[in-house]
Amino acid sequence: MSPAETAIDQADTSVGAMSHEDYYNLAAQVLPGAGLGGYSLPEDVRFVIHRGEGSRLQDVRGRWYIDYVGGAGALILGHAFPSVVAAVQEEVPKGLHFFGTLNEKAILLAKELVDAIPCAEKIAYTTTGSEATFYAMRIARAYTGCSKILKCEGGYHGNHDYSNFSVSPGALSNYPVGRPDTAGMPSSLAESVLVGPYNDLETIRKIVEAERADLAAIIVEPVQRVIFPRDGYLEGLRKICDDNDVLLIFDEVVTGFRLAYGGAQEYFGVKPDLASYGKIAGGGGPVGCVGGSDRIMEQCNPVNRGKPTYAYINGTLHGNPIGCAAGLATLAELRTPGFYDRLHGRSADLQAACQKVLDRHNLPALAIGRGSLWQIVFMDKEPESFADFIQCDMASTRDLDIGLMKNGLYVLPGVRRFVSAVHTDEDFDNTVAALDAACRAMR
Ligand SMILES: Cc1ncc(COP(=O)(O)O)c(C=O)c1O
Repeated sequence: MSPAETAIDQADTSVGAMSHEDYYNLAAQVLPGAGLGGYSLPEDVRFVIHRGEGSRLQDVRGRWYIDYVGGAGALILGHAFPSVVAAVQEEVPKGLHFFGTLNEKAILLAKELVDAIPCAEKIAYTTTGSEATFYAMRIARAYTGCSKILKCEGGYHGNHDYSNFSVSPGALSNYPVGRPDTAGMPSSLAESVLVGPYNDLETIRKIVEAERADLAAIIVEPVQRVIFPRDGYLEGLRKICDDNDVLLIFDEVVTGFRLAYGGAQEYFGVKPDLASYGKIAGGGGPVGCVGGSDRIMEQCNPVNRGKPTYAYINGTLHGNPIGCAAGLATLAELRTPGFYDRLHGRSADLQAACQKVLDRHNLPALAIGRGSLWQIVFMDKEPESFADFIQCDMASTRDLDIGLMKNGLYVLPGVRRFVSAVHTDEDFDNTVAALDAACRAMR
């Protein structure tokens, strides 16, 4: 793809087993909304992935896209990174999956995770990030004997019922009462999940002090979506938790191995009691984990099964050897000296180049983010709270993103995106050209 070409301009040479249309017709018969999850893309930009290579995806029509979705942030090394592929290829012939007892790769990755995650003396495996936050909450409740969890408005902790309160409410919540984001939630759950504002220590302190008798933990995304913590915010949460005997859980599903090798804990210098991981920890494979101190993680020691304080953790795919092999190979790359400095520096350059384009077109939009997390949003200042974020012009934000998709980028409309270590200078030039074309179309 050259800067002048867009995904739509590219001549189609089918590479799929079926045509684009046949795949969509089949998908419409067997998948709700012909989709894989929560996204329903407009017909003129949706595509069926044939393969991924480095920073790019190819669809079944043979068109290439520069990928900033990165497997929802799991693919910090892009697609099919050679050492990750080699590790998986070595593992696959030995068996895809085991259960009930240890396997070599699961032990070796657990050691790397404990070494990497500042708050972890032990980890318990999960399959996904959602499970990792679900179990962190369960362990916190088992450890403290309390039943409630406080989360932040706008914070996402996965697909389970304890997460789906006030993740994307249309209006601010009546703290500490959250708003369910989905149908199908048990009504009784609203009593167990409290909601407070991100980056507002005063309100969080008041909620904690009022609820401390039955509050097990605060769970927080250290970087909430693309909103970074104010100076002292995470330290303040740590202190509020300590003052009130409440546990602090960092949801590091995105920030873990993304902001730094030691995740947000290293990047911001704050240690929670428990941390949930997913995504990069398994190099794109089915691996997540909860990490914490020996004392807290003892709650899920299976020898305690049957005791009232035992927190049950179990899953068919936990410690899956293929995912663990991919995780081990990925983490080895991330330990290369200078890896994060280079990634962050390149991402900052890309953001700055995008901001220049937006300014040149006089569009009231900002390229926001830090590290390798970024997004273009129509707003006049970097958001510091969910209240700021819902002021943003989401319709224009989405329109621009759809324009980017039409011009050869894979982004999800209105969603934060990721730079990977394998995005090239040519990708960045093409991205700036795509943004320029999308801005022109918007005007
Ligand atoms: C911060 C955060 N926590 C939890 C999850 C859930 O992870 P998964 O989709 O692997 O279940 C996500 C997913 O994007 C996330 O961004």
